[in-house]
Amino acid sequence: MQLPTWQPQAPLQALALPWAEAAGVSLAVLRLDLIDPLISGNKWFKLAPHLAVAAQAGAEGVISLGGAHSNHLHALAAAGQRFGFATVGLLRGEPQDTATVRDLQRWGMQLHWLGYGGYRARHQADFWAPWQALYPHFATVPEGGGGLLGAQGCQVLVSMARAQLPALGWADYDGWWLAAGTGTTLAGLVLGEAGAHPVTAALAVPASHGVAQQVAEVLQQAGQAAQGYRLLEAARGGFARVDTELAAFTLACEQHSGVLLEPVYTAKALLALQGQIESAAIPAGSRLIVVHTGGLQGRSAALQQVPGYTDEQFAAVEPSHE
Ligand SMILES: Cc1ncc(COP(=O)(O)O)c(C=O)c1O
Repeated sequence: MQLPTWQPQAPLQALALPWAEAAGVSLAVLRLDLIDPLISGNKWFKLAPHLAVAAQAGAEGVISLGGAHSNHLHALAAAGQRFGFATVGLLRGEPQDTATVRDLQRWGMQLHWLGYGGYRARHQADFWAPWQALYPHFATVPEGGGGLLGAQGCQVLVSMARAQLPALGWADYDGWWLAAGTGTTLAGLVLGEAGAHPVTAALAVPASHGVAQQVAEVLQQAGQAAQGYRLLEAARGGFARVDTELAAFTLACEQHSGVLLEPVYTAKALLALQGQIESAAIPAGSRLIVVHTGGLQGRSAALQQVPGYTDEQFAAVEPSHE
């Protein structure tokens, strides 16, 4: 496979939300959702160093893992089709027909369903042997494009945002705000900041997923102290759970800001931010950069969990393409 040389730039835009404005807190959003309609969000930045290593090793393609709604597999399959390398997806559970799975198939990803037990075995030492035998010239990418390589790919977000501050009229900022699933993107921002500005991540998954340990491990591998960030509990009953309050909040923020959100990560992070602002944990005059981590292709499926959901009700806002 060839080394993909794509270097997308995400716009930094003012984010108008009445609850932040009322508290005198200014928000800007780094729109990773806008870098590409298919390879959207933080996925590309996490994948890029893994793909570079695979290309340098002369791999024919890439194997990775995820669930039937995996944003990571979605971006990987789209990148494979775009940049001309083969992809294999090892999926959790029994075969399912989701919008994400249909896209994976359309883009030529070879799918293998591992069941639940089979997927749980992914951390065992002998897990990869049969897959490496079946696909001998393929490189493996960890779940979610994580690890130190994935984090290093996200470091660039810091300079990308900083370069756009003058256009916003901001001389500086007071910190970052984002959602964490594995904590890889968070770790990348912490590496990029090297202590200059704090990073707060709202946990989209329960604490039992071990994000705190994973972030500390990645920073340790990078030779950096585990400081300059904090994790907030924000899972609201579990990963990918969308309750009525979160759905209504998502829609209200979309309507106010004109930015299409996704409830599993970015809107959950904003709801946690609203909580912190309302409890006065964030002083008036603060300027925060929020990361929109993409994943909009899963928005409708996520919102369908809400009783009484209709696509029309939640499709009120056109995404901004500024
Ligand atoms: C849309 C979206 N936002 C945020 C995240 C969380 O990113 P990370 O796993 O780097 O914490 C993910 C998962 O990777 C995601 O798919």
